[in-house]
Amino acid sequence: MLDHATRPDPEGCLTALTEAFPGAALLAGDAIPARNLQDTSYLPAVGPLAVVRPADPAGVARAVAICARHHVPFVPQGGLTGLAGGGHPVAGAVMISLERLTGIEEIDPAASTLTVCAGTPLEVIQKAADAEGFFIPLDLGARGSCQIGGNLGTNAGGNRVIRYGMAREMVLGLEYVLPDGTLVTSLNKMIKNNAGYDLKQLFIGSEGTLGIITRAVLRMQPKPGCVNAALCGCDTYEDVVALLGSARRGLGPMLSAFEVMWPDYWHEATVTVGVRSPLEGLHPYYVLIEAQGLAEETDGPRFQSWIEDQFEAGLLADAAISQSLGDVQAFWNTRDACSEFGSRLGPHCAFDIGLPVARMEAFVSACRDRLAASIPQSLAVFYGHIGDGNLHIVALSRGAETQPMAEIAAIVYATVRDFDGTVSAEHGIGLLKKPYLPYSRTPEELALMRRIKAALDPEGLLNPGKVFDLEDDK
Ligand code: FAD
Ligand code: LAC
Ligand code: ZN
Repeated sequence: MLDHATRPDPEGCLTALTEAFPGAALLAGDAIPARNLQDTSYLPAVGPLAVVRPADPAGVARAVAICARHHVPFVPQGGLTGLAGGGHPVAGAVMISLERLTGIEEIDPAASTLTVCAGTPLEVIQKAADAEGFFIPLDLGARGSCQIGGNLGTNAGGNRVIRYGMAREMVLGLEYVLPDGTLVTSLNKMIKNNAGYDLKQLFIGSEGTLGIITRAVLRMQPKPGCVNAALCGCDTYEDVVALLGSARRGLGPMLSAFEVMWPDYWHEATVTVGVRSPLEGLHPYYVLIEAQGLAEETDGPRFQSWIEDQFEAGLLADAAISQSLGDVQAFWNTRDACSEFGSRLGPHCAFDIGLPVARMEAFVSACRDRLAASIPQSLAVFYGHIGDGNLHIVALSRGAETQPMAEIAAIVYATVRDFDGTVSAEHGIGLLKKPYLPYSRTPEELALMRRIKAALDPEGLLNPGKVFDLEDDK
């Protein structure tokens, strides 16, 4: 029950925001664009009170302070490519969009760092680093529209985790706004800094529920001297697992991606989306292996000879080996085809579960069978970052007027629990996976999460209802 002192005052909030953010920096009513009404999670559109679009960190702090003073909830929104509903609007809340807080502030070659504003699209950052001879390893299909603030908010994974780790491992410094409007600036550039708690980690991967990220110092890597890739066909899952072990040993630190696609995925990618297959025939498993080396003269032949060894060991049924960067891109096109599933297949359930690599195939077959037994005209396609133990599933009921999202989710997550997996390896919990968070976290972990949230945001105004509810799960 809210007492008078904390009763929301939306009219007062809107008036104060209008004064503080004149012109197009504040959008309310019919002026709110459709793109701010939902993210990529297929949840129905929700109408917020307003969208505020600050252009600098102080502006974000000001917007938060106004919302907090009027006890009105607020939601950080990045590129809205999130797949779990974390950036989805909350009815009557203020959306704090980072879309105008863009730009690269500094590239420091000596420290190998890039300081960037939170609303900058990932692809812009990748290109800026490339132009200076550096490399930003974070990469995902939504690169053109997702923002670095959203990437850090979700601790995004993506295609090169096997070599470089997830987004949190690429961050040296962070600036964020606390739920009371305090701006905390800690734009550290040093790799080693053990002076007290590493507070930035609290704000990375907490899906905008503890603070709003405004700037970040990213760690750049040297640009790879060469890139080689192979698109392989394998006969058995045991061969895939053996190939992964062999790639880790034989390619060592060069191994930068190990992506696996099951035949149901391959069909949708090459037939429904229409990406050209680099291989002649069909196979039970397709593996995309990428290796980033220092120099083509040495690392190109080394990669070629490693692939030949895998043929001799009987692990490969077929393989196309890249002869150019164009080939590397063509191989990735088969994996990036899933970006078009939304437009080609329509609304569907998207999963990002995690499992020990050895149990993946048993999980796939149990999950496929359970979905087929309960979902009419079930279509389930399996693929993912198998080198990281991260499996994606796209599932739907073919021809259904309304997708049975809840039924599909219940079946998949029950199977995840049976196999001791995690309900989210990279996309986060948001709204969609809230009921299933207790499948992957203990009551003690959940209680600690709530204590941290209550300490930073006692009124529960920042991105309310995301990840978990403030009350215990009943
Ligand atoms: P949004 O969707 O706007 O927000 C995501 C969450 O972060 C929300 O909870 C939001 O409140 C919070 N947030 C946003 N900005 C901030 C901020 N400045 N401070 C604090 N919190 C903030 N994800 C992966 O991990 N790996 C993949 O390989 C991958 N591939 C994808 C491919 C496609 C085609 C698509 C559509 C999505 C993919 N995703 C992937 C999911 C999504 O792109 C990522 O989660 C991305 O990092 C979200 O960024 P965004 O800017 O769109 O964030
Ligand atoms: C991918 C997204 C779905 O890996 O995470 O394609
Ligand atoms: Zn992924």
